[in-house]
Amino acid sequence: MDRGYTTETTRKCGNGPSEPWAPSVLRRGLVSLVGAGPGDPDLLTVKALRVLMAAEVVAYDELVSPAILALAPPSAARIAVGRRGGGVRHHEVDMDPRVLEAARMGRRVVRLKGGDPSIFGRVGEEALALAEAGIPFEIIPGVSAALGAAASLAVPLTHRLVSSTVTFAAAHLTPGPDGLPDVARFVKQIAELPKNGTIVFYMGLGALPLLREALLSAGWPDATPAMGISKATTPEETHVVGTLGTLPGLVAAVKLKAPALVVLGHVVDVHARIQELRADVGGHEEIAALYTQVA
Ligand SMILES: C[S@@+](CC[C@H](N)C(=O)[O-])C[C@H]1O[C@@H](n2cnc3c(N)ncnc32)[C@H](O)[C@@H]1O
Repeated sequence: MDRGYTTETTRKCGNGPSEPWAPSVLRRGLVSLVGAGPGDPDLLTVKALRVLMAAEVVAYDELVSPAILALAPPSAARIAVGRRGGGVRHHEVDMDPRVLEAARMGRRVVRLKGGDPSIFGRVGEEALALAEAGIPFEIIPGVSAALGAAASLAVPLTHRLVSSTVTFAAAHLTPGPDGLPDVARFVKQIAELPKNGTIVFYMGLGALPLLREALLSAGWPDATPAMGISKATTPEETHVVGTLGTLPGLVAAVKLKAPALVVLGHVVDVHARIQELRADVGGHEEIAALYTQVA
């Protein structure tokens, strides 16, 4: 499969800026749909870093951290895509027209998306739009928020004794046929979630009281361990640990901010026990020193 400059062409022609495979001879552009991870730049994949450093155009979501954006060459054009990114939200088309235009001009475009592009990242819509437009693309995975948060806070998303499944669920209300938030559909979707494993809710902060009600009516006990995690893997990471019943109050009390996840299930108890024991062992200074040494 021809993946453009990232594999075959790079191997044949080398990597220097004056090499003949430079953009002018690329007949078609290439769009790399890249997972930027949850925030910490060290969680980018090597492949993501490689394409980012070679980008001519970077189109980025509101969730992509400035530290990651700074890894693109200063010469690369930057396009904010999304509600809070300063760009226009495109409802009718599934790919920003500026991205399509740059690719048609033969540019190496990196479409940076928070976390992993395949998890609530609209990669399906964008890949379809690119395929329909006849533009070559590749998808480069990223660390999804749930995985980044789990690692950062020692939350085992599965555990042999308490949870053998993990579900990633979207917990935001979508508009119904009348344009208003479709509560009935939301409640139905929550009722369909598996009850014995771990659930990680994305985009659940705004609807937390409703989420709790929907979970209760679906049979989840109010005492189910639960935690809220904000800005995981970034310097502003915060979290609260409680139960389904106490979580809305805890979140409100600390003013937990988006982007945030809600983790539900007994793995939260395992997390609490690990952290309790870990506090006695220490080691945070050693870990911090290690990263300072290799930085
Ligand atoms: C539109 S979804 C995109 C998810 C992304 N594709 C991923 O794989 O993580 C946005 C949601 O991801 C979650 N999220 C993204 N980054 C996060 C972070 N650093 N900490 C906590 N939650 C995060 C939040 O639930 C946020 O509302």
